[in-house]
Amino acid sequence: MRVVHTIADLRQALAPYDSPAFVPTMGNLHDGHLALVRRARGLGDVCVTSIFVNRLQFLPHEDFDTYPRTLEADCAKLASAGCDIVFAPAEHELYPEPQTFTVQPPAALADLLEGHYRPGFFTGVCTVVMKLFQCVFAQAKGQRHAVFGKKDYQQLLVIRHMVRQFALPVTIHDGEIERAPDGLALSSRNSYLSPTQRAEAPQLVLALRTLAAGVLGGERNLAALEERAQHTLTARGWQVDYLTVRRREDLQPPGVEDLQMGRLVALGAARLGRTRLIDSWEF
Ligand code: PAJ
Repeated sequence: MRVVHTIADLRQALAPYDSPAFVPTMGNLHDGHLALVRRARGLGDVCVTSIFVNRLQFLPHEDFDTYPRTLEADCAKLASAGCDIVFAPAEHELYPEPQTFTVQPPAALADLLEGHYRPGFFTGVCTVVMKLFQCVFAQAKGQRHAVFGKKDYQQLLVIRHMVRQFALPVTIHDGEIERAPDGLALSSRNSYLSPTQRAEAPQLVLALRTLAAGVLGGERNLAALEERAQHTLTARGWQVDYLTVRRREDLQPPGVEDLQMGRLVALGAARLGRTRLIDSWEF
């Protein structure tokens, strides 16, 4: 496995290959990321993982400065997962000057849910993903693949739309959410949780599963279901941003016919203390 820090070295390392399969990450890797890497390995002729904590997708009060940076441990994990090339640029390599050109996703997709609570988040994500795609794929001659996890459900949808609207020659693949045995979705931010909070954290996915069970059980008053779910978590000490049932294809609230058809997803974001967790549950 090669670890490169500059765009020039990345392009040189990729020169012998035709068909990269790419997994963008912000590092502090866990089995959720590694599952995406294993998936990527079977897709192209070279597997590339990027590790870059992208300042553009953090709000000023968020955890950019404290986000765990664990490059050495990450590289050891990537090597054993079968990654071929790690691209870990410094900030001045990817953003040598202020990034004033940005990719602006449509409000209909990007201003709801995560985008509502983290304004500008998806502009930051789209901009860095577009740029990373240029770094990894520019010289590829064959098919290009990128893998994203369903853990960040809205992000996956936004990226799929970006690729379609810009006709980017990249096939987007999704990976299922990897969970701890107690159901908690693996996340780099889980390391912020105290032992008590860690024990409480699986309640988030439980709330999502309860929402799904309500709809599947015939409940048609979604607002009441969502309010109950929110109340349950709030009473346990959570601060809830949203707990909601949406259509999978566009994350809009489902109509009656959608509730019968299925293809729904329960999405949630909530804070335990200062740690914000997100999760989703398809049903
Ligand atoms: P990061 O949070 O590091 O996640 C990198 C990828 O891993 C994303 O596609 C995310 O959905 C996936 N992932 C995280 N936890 C997962 C889990 N438990 N199971 C399956 N997949 C999981 O998402 C980002 O970084 C950034 O926004 C990025 C796309 C790299 C742009 O900066």
